[in-house]
Amino acid sequence: MVKNPSHQDIDSSTYMTILKKFKPFKLFEPSLGILGFLFITVCIVFGFVYLDYRNVVTGGVFRFSNGIERLKWLKFGSNSEVYSTKKIDFLSVDGDGCDVFEGDWLWDEKYPLYQSTDCRFLDGGFRCSENGRPDLLYTKWRWQPKDCNLPRFNGTRMLESMKNKRIVFVGDSIGRNQWESLLCMLSSTITSTKETDNDSIYEVNGNPITKHKGFLVFKFRDYNSTIEYYRAPFLVLQSRPPPNSPLDIRTTLKLDQMDWSSAKWRDADVLVFNTGHWWNNEKTIKGGCYFQEGEKVNMEMKVETAYKKALETVIAWVDKQVNKTKTQVFFRTYAPVHFRRGSWRSGGNCHQETLPNLGSSPEQPSTTSPQYHIFKDIISNSSKNSSMNVLNTTIMSARRKDGHPSLYYLGPMMSPAAVHRQDCSHWCLPGVPDAWNEILYAFVLKQAAVSG
Ligand SMILES: *[C@@H]1O[C@H](CO)[C@@H](O)[C@H](O)[C@H]1NC(C)=O
Ligand SMILES: *[C@@H]1O[C@H](CO)[C@@H](O)[C@H](O)[C@H]1NC(C)=O
Ligand SMILES: *[C@@H]1O[C@H](CO)[C@@H](O)[C@H](O)[C@H]1NC(C)=O
Ligand SMILES: *[C@@H]1O[C@H](CO)[C@@H](O)[C@H](O)[C@H]1NC(C)=O
Ligand SMILES: *[C@@H]1O[C@H](CO)[C@@H](O)[C@H](O)[C@H]1NC(C)=O
Ligand SMILES: *[C@@H]1O[C@H](CO)[C@@H](O)[C@H](O)[C@H]1NC(C)=O
Ligand SMILES: *[C@@H]1O[C@H](CO)[C@@H](O)[C@H](O)[C@H]1NC(C)=O
Repeated sequence: MVKNPSHQDIDSSTYMTILKKFKPFKLFEPSLGILGFLFITVCIVFGFVYLDYRNVVTGGVFRFSNGIERLKWLKFGSNSEVYSTKKIDFLSVDGDGCDVFEGDWLWDEKYPLYQSTDCRFLDGGFRCSENGRPDLLYTKWRWQPKDCNLPRFNGTRMLESMKNKRIVFVGDSIGRNQWESLLCMLSSTITSTKETDNDSIYEVNGNPITKHKGFLVFKFRDYNSTIEYYRAPFLVLQSRPPPNSPLDIRTTLKLDQMDWSSAKWRDADVLVFNTGHWWNNEKTIKGGCYFQEGEKVNMEMKVETAYKKALETVIAWVDKQVNKTKTQVFFRTYAPVHFRRGSWRSGGNCHQETLPNLGSSPEQPSTTSPQYHIFKDIISNSSKNSSMNVLNTTIMSARRKDGHPSLYYLGPMMSPAAVHRQDCSHWCLPGVPDAWNEILYAFVLKQAAVSG
């Protein structure tokens, strides 16, 4: 196995830089000094955080370089214990049981993994900085599991392990968010070694990357590897109602059948599902979309019940239809939204968030929504049989209230959007979905190591 520079090295070198800065004060000699140092750090950090918020609230310009300096302090103040323990490598045998979803967001100068300006695979809505978002702090956080280290992402290595293979994302626009993130992560390694040429990565049907329905398949020519996205926000089949249905039934969700495109993704080598954001009244019943089982449309069925049944269908389909020797199946859990004082329709906002929640207690489920908890119940009921890997990203992402486009999703000319029309559900790129993909990468490499 190729040895990557571990995160530990990076952590300790940053630590040393900070230590060096303070040598002249000799604070580190007696333990009292350390206490004093921490106390001062905490005071300064709180002061800065307070000032940051005032700055934003009063419309002051966020001074970027200062922000970085402050965050170095912040990281040191709140996470110092993380640096002093050597962790096992997730890819090693000892890393087998490690829960990579429990951990912290750490400031890392080496991030982001790519620049949005270098990536031609991004929807305008995710290009927050190009759309005028003034701070870049949200691009600088790395996910650090508590009990082990993830391998540092290496796109070449991922593409090599995906030679002649297909990675398929199926789900809603947050799945698309993650897919585009992976395209950027992988393509940035290619363009850094070769001159960008449009033929080395291309959509197999010549379609442009715009927000259309259906699917897109990007091929990495030199690896004969494809990274694909199928839009199926419910995962199960949405189609016309049975003949002679009442007129207010415009479409139905067939809770016992997979989406029409399932035949196309069944044989993928890596299959990543997500669903959740469409399972609400607005996107179903209010739009005349009711739930159907067999030939029967059940007009009384609640969205929550329908969602459970759909998840059971997905799990059963994976168990019956997917060849587990060939296909590694993942289900990414619900991506939390961060609308404050309202929802996306009623002026909820997140544009004042420039920092993650770095507190040690994990974000609690106010932001994690019923969709996450329902999934958790269903998967734990079937986990003995199910071969599905859970990308349990809900809690880690719940801490990233700073990660959304907020006002900066309308393109460089139109942004910022009106304050009452914010996007606090998708994620800026580079950003949080990159971390989901780093974990996906770790699982894929781990599997490759197991199967030789
Ligand atoms: C990335 O992976 C490739 C292929 O495994 C390897 O040759 C290269 O040295 C790696 N790069 C880094 C920075 O580790
Ligand atoms: C390219 O990959 C596909 C599977 O994704 C495979 O069916 C095909 O044979 C591969 N082509 C070559 C030339 O290896
Ligand atoms: C690649 O495509 C872009 C957009 O279509 C175009 O502007 C650029 O000139 C192309 N580059 C090459 C090397 O063909
Ligand atoms: C499952 O996949 C493996 C590996 O690609 C293959 O050898 C095997 O024949 C497949 N089994 C079925 C039932 O298709
Ligand atoms: C996801 O992680 C959280 C916190 O680490 C844990 O409580 C939960 O049980 C996990 N959920 C699943 C589905 O594994
Ligand atoms: C879990 O399975 C048991 C037994 O099959 C069933 O009674 C229960 O309702 C299931 N729970 C969920 C959340 O589906
Ligand atoms: C587990 O798998 C067995 C055999 O494939 C099947 O009969 C059983 O119903 C499954 N149990 C659950 C809870 O899915």
